Amino acid sequence: MRTRRIGDAQVSEIGLGGMPMSIEGRPDEQRSIATIHAALEAGVTLIDTADSYHRDAGEVGHNELLIARALASFGGDTSGVLVATKGGHLRPGDGSWTQDGSPDHLKKACEASLKRLGVEAIGLYQFHRPDPKVPYADSIGAIRDLLDAGKIRYAGISNTNPDQIREANEILGGRLVSVQNQFSPAFRSSEPELELCAEMGIAFLPWAPLGRSSHAGELGSRFAPFAEVAQAHGVSPQQVCLAWMLAKAPVVIPIPGSSRPETILDSVKAADLRLSDDELARLDSVQ
Ligand SMILES: NC(=O)c1ccc[n+]([C@@H]2O[C@H](COP(=O)([O-])OP(=O)(O)OC[C@H]3O[C@@H](n4cnc5c(N)ncnc54)[C@H](OP(=O)(O)O)[C@@H]3O)[C@@H](O)[C@H]2O)c1
Repeated sequence: MRTRRIGDAQVSEIGLGGMPMSIEGRPDEQRSIATIHAALEAGVTLIDTADSYHRDAGEVGHNELLIARALASFGGDTSGVLVATKGGHLRPGDGSWTQDGSPDHLKKACEASLKRLGVEAIGLYQFHRPDPKVPYADSIGAIRDLLDAGKIRYAGISNTNPDQIREANEILGGRLVSVQNQFSPAFRSSEPELELCAEMGIAFLPWAPLGRSSHAGELGSRFAPFAEVAQAHGVSPQQVCLAWMLAKAPVVIPIPGSSRPETILDSVKAADLRLSDDELARLDSVQ
């Protein structure tokens, strides 16, 4: 598969989002492992996870452990796979998502993720979401300390605005390599962050690119131009959506979630789908 850059690492243009394999509605482990193996076989070398991708209390890191097991049991070479995890969110087990962006929590969370992933340094560590109770500079300062200590290879941030992107990059001494924000046909308000990342040469990882598990299957019926362009190319509307994002800027690397081999195998084909300027303009005009 074609690659794009995160820091000085080259990763597949389409990554795999691990969340649907660990939260509410998740499949059994066998199907999840088959999904991750299918992605690896197809050439995916970016897997996105988080310590908070779990369902119940007491199973923090469910998704990180799953990914570590899938990588260990994969027959092929996994040395080029970048696992991107996150810290700063918590799930108490009642379905909610809470936050702790304190430096103390982030440093402990990173240590726990290192153990679960079974690595000496985490590939990409992302601060999951600004915590209103903690100054942003303090949270990012903890990420800088983790970089300096060699606990993480690359640093990223998530759920941010342009000012925070600039601030984080400054605190990290120019070492911010990625921004992960929600971006999809239904959720376009992260365009300023995408454009800033393109200007700064920082990878932009759209999360929920297909509208989350609840809406991903309806993408074509909700947004007719995606279905029409898909029909013209004989591909799925989801592939068209990912190809449209890839065409926005060379820094864009979508991370569609998947819990079945079929869906990730369909999504990766977006890397080979070329859309015309007219088609891209039509897709851009969708409100
Ligand atoms: N930073 C953050 O705050 C944040 C928040 C949310 C998510 N994320 C990350 O972003 C990733 C993506 O977001 P998401 O998983 O919530 O939503 P998403 O990628 O928009 O949608 C995921 C769903 O899309 C379906 N799907 C995938 N490819 C498809 C295809 N080609 N055709 C039809 N259906 C397809 C999958 O179905 P099946 O389950 O049936 O395979 C999956 O359940 C997550 O997995 C996670 O890693 C980050």
